[in-house]
Amino acid sequence: MKSILAGKKILFGITGSIAVYKAAEWVRELTKAEVEVTVVMTEAAARFISSLTFAALSGRRVYTGMFEADAGEEMTHISLAGECDLCIIAPATAQSMAKFANGFADDLLSTLVLACKAKVLVFPAMNSNMYCHAATQANLTRLQEYGYGIIEPEQGKLACGDEGIGRLVAWETAREKILSALAPQDLADRTVLITAGPTWESFDPARHLSNRSSGKMGYGLARAAGRRGARVILVSGPSAIDPPPGVEIVNIINAREMHDAVMEHYKSADVVVMAAAVSDYRPAKTMQQKIKKGGKLLDLELVPNPDILKKLGQKKKKAKRPLLIGFAAESSHHIEEGRRKLKEKNLDLIVINDIIGKDTGFAADTNQISLIDRDYGLEKLPLLSKEVCADMILDKVVKLLQ
Ligand code: PMT
Repeated sequence: MKSILAGKKILFGITGSIAVYKAAEWVRELTKAEVEVTVVMTEAAARFISSLTFAALSGRRVYTGMFEADAGEEMTHISLAGECDLCIIAPATAQSMAKFANGFADDLLSTLVLACKAKVLVFPAMNSNMYCHAATQANLTRLQEYGYGIIEPEQGKLACGDEGIGRLVAWETAREKILSALAPQDLADRTVLITAGPTWESFDPARHLSNRSSGKMGYGLARAAGRRGARVILVSGPSAIDPPPGVEIVNIINAREMHDAVMEHYKSADVVVMAAAVSDYRPAKTMQQKIKKGGKLLDLELVPNPDILKKLGQKKKKAKRPLLIGFAAESSHHIEEGRRKLKEKNLDLIVINDIIGKDTGFAADTNQISLIDRDYGLEKLPLLSKEVCADMILDKVVKLLQ
């Protein structure tokens, strides 16, 4: 029950750019996430920051040369290249990319990249004129043709004082690319429709009924499914979160709009995951003008919204697809309620989450979930990050799809 990163072996190649100091932070973050990071530095990189820094951050020996005195009998470049799950080069200079693109093997890192069978991710960082030069661009194209992942640098103020493209990407971007490179591609060729966030049910131009859903759980699922190769359609209520890259987003406001969007898209989906907190009721009337404050009691008449998931469950009685995954947000009798909803809505899996605890349910970054599948098999999970919960749910989805 750990993140995709835990236990993975990453070979981290560092070349001579001022952005080396940022790589130190990346090594720290990866090591914190229980990745076995082996750092290989070029001679130029070691002039910017001592290898000692990376040895301390990774907790492992740092390699710098082909012919280190204590290398013994072992062929370092072959053994390091063969052992890793992923190789990343960050920061990657114009010189290092020219070497990789042309198959040079004149130092430990370039030799190692040539010998590496694992996926290679290259994170360039340099002056923007150097980056935009036709020679560098031709090298990048060639590396892409070899199957390397190239992560375009960011725009901004550069260390040399210039403004333009060439800054090493932020850690959050790098992390996402690393996760995608390591994620199993077990949802490739599948379409997953996910709902997320709250719905807003207006009763006048200024006010609505809603709930505390932030969208974190649904967006986490969308991101995780995308990493695992799925085409993702995300039907989202109002949320402050940026949609994950590559996801097809359909923004809606209220339950009836969510109903219409789901009905429009579910037929192309292999899996539907309803993580949205859909308002069960809406005001019977939406006033055109703001309701004025008065001293008297104000009655608000509510009418039921369509139960989207129940409707999909009824339609599914005749068809085997899509796989239907519901959520149950519960404050008491969690398992009984989950079982009841699984049956009533004809689901393949229900994810029950507690909404009373401090670190679980609405708006939290973590969640405590239990899964019940269509055979009533129950799996109770401990408190986990929503990112890890998403992968645990998708592991189950992959099994059910089989
Ligand atoms: O967004 P976050 O802040 O990260 O919070 C996550 C969450 C707590 C919202 C999420 O994990 C969650 O539990 N979502 C479902 C909330 C909910 O509406 O639960 P429910 O037990 O009322 O509904 C059961 C299922 O039917 C849900 O899958 C729901 O999406 C669906 N439903 C409910 C009502 C309705 N009218 N139509 C529906 O399709």
